[in-house]
Amino acid sequence: MTTYALRSASPAKTRADAVVVGVLRGPSGPTLAPGGDEVASAYGRRLAPLLATLGVTGKAGEVVKLPTSKTISSPVLLLAGLGDEVTPGTARRAAGVAARAATNAASVALALPADSAALVRAVTEGWALGGYTFTSYKRQPDGERTDRAGEVVVLSPLARKKDVVAAFEEAQVVSAAVAQARDWVNTPPNDLRPPSFADAVVEARRGHGRSRGAGSLKVEVLDEKRLAELGCGGILSVGRSSDAPPRLVRLDYEPKGAVAHLALVGKGITFDSGGLSIKPAAGMKEMKSDMAGAAAVVAATFAIADLGLPVRLTTYASLAENMVSGDASRPGDVVTMYGGTTVEILNTDAEGRMVLGDALVMAQEAEPDVVLDVATLTGHMVMALGDRVAGVLGDEKVVADVLAASEAAGEEHWPMPIPAMMEERIRSSKIADLAQHDWIRWGGGLYAAAFLREFTGGLPWAHLDIAGPAFNSGGPWGQVTSGGTGFAVATLVEYARSLATR
Ligand code: BES
Ligand code: ZN
Ligand code: MN
Repeated sequence: MTTYALRSASPAKTRADAVVVGVLRGPSGPTLAPGGDEVASAYGRRLAPLLATLGVTGKAGEVVKLPTSKTISSPVLLLAGLGDEVTPGTARRAAGVAARAATNAASVALALPADSAALVRAVTEGWALGGYTFTSYKRQPDGERTDRAGEVVVLSPLARKKDVVAAFEEAQVVSAAVAQARDWVNTPPNDLRPPSFADAVVEARRGHGRSRGAGSLKVEVLDEKRLAELGCGGILSVGRSSDAPPRLVRLDYEPKGAVAHLALVGKGITFDSGGLSIKPAAGMKEMKSDMAGAAAVVAATFAIADLGLPVRLTTYASLAENMVSGDASRPGDVVTMYGGTTVEILNTDAEGRMVLGDALVMAQEAEPDVVLDVATLTGHMVMALGDRVAGVLGDEKVVADVLAASEAAGEEHWPMPIPAMMEERIRSSKIADLAQHDWIRWGGGLYAAAFLREFTGGLPWAHLDIAGPAFNSGGPWGQVTSGGTGFAVATLVEYARSLATR
């Protein structure tokens, strides 16, 4: 357990096992960033040659550790590169890198730039997220010790300001939620199947029993029998392929005095083999992450309740495993979705839209003001935007609001269109209302969004395709660790906050 404190103490006089300062890459060499001024004065004229000898440049991602030999009160100084400017983004990244470099320090003081609420938030989140580890399946952590500091002090000249304290607290709640989502995504797919994932959500709800909004937070799990009674043909069409039956998890957060009502829907494919339209082996190896959308909406719901935001939430996590079996769906099958729309399945690997369709219709029944769905939906989006940026599609206003929220949350999103021609493509089935897929290679991410829109009942809506950024198959960078990233949690919380303060 790490405890966090916010203080306006001097970094040069703070006693901690290590002090972290930022370094800016300046035109005339690296300089210590705001927050590190007193450390810079303690070193005086020795600083510039020291940085030069250490090879410090200040570029983003750089981190250098040095003994201070009593120049300041702490024995170790960590220099974290910020690049060319101080922004919440560069501060978050530097804090994340520093967190991984500061192993074996029991206490750490962060003297990174923190002279605004946004920077305090970024530094706190960056540290918490960059230091995330997932070790439940290791007999013993290998290599270097991965112990994290038990005591973290964030230094800010504004430590007493109300909005800064609030940002600091929100950062801790959001980081914990992101870590929860990462844990679920990282859990191997033999241990996280729809029933056990649903159980884990119920269990997590208990863990939030004492939070601010807990009294108004309810969870309900619909099992395969109930889904059949309700006619959830989409979820069942995917779930029938697996021995582990599907689940639809519903969370309701109804705070007193809610000023808006938001519905969240997440794709929760606990493993995506592609089904009979089976994936090649290389395309399957990370498909335990295909439930990242569900993990994000659930974790964000808990965080929003923890913060007590006055926004009513109706959240659906649609859980199924996409496998092959003697009873799996076939290309050519026609199923009736919840609400009655018929869909011709043409590629069992386009399963996300099937599980989301039912849940979107159900979300409509709660009459929310706005609907967001989050899904690792298409490889097309990864092709278009790479693995660090999510695509956002839907109503112009909702998309703009999501983009604004994602900016504040430090997660990159980019708007993508739903071209008019997609209307024809999704209706190209000769025998059903909608074609789930049309085997035209181009624009598959946009097709998928047009398909989902059919299930939104004309409510204000946006779709976040997080197929790229949900899982980091490479090494850690900044606050983003390897494996599940918890992407979209921070954006969803920020979006809810923007609804609350509108
Ligand atoms: N879960 C995948 C999408 C995906 C791909 C997520 C890569 C993360 C990384 C999804 O179910 C899928 O298989 N999509 C198909 C859609 C196609 C059949 C229209 C795809 O991307 O090829
Ligand atoms: Zn999938
Ligand atoms: Mn698939």
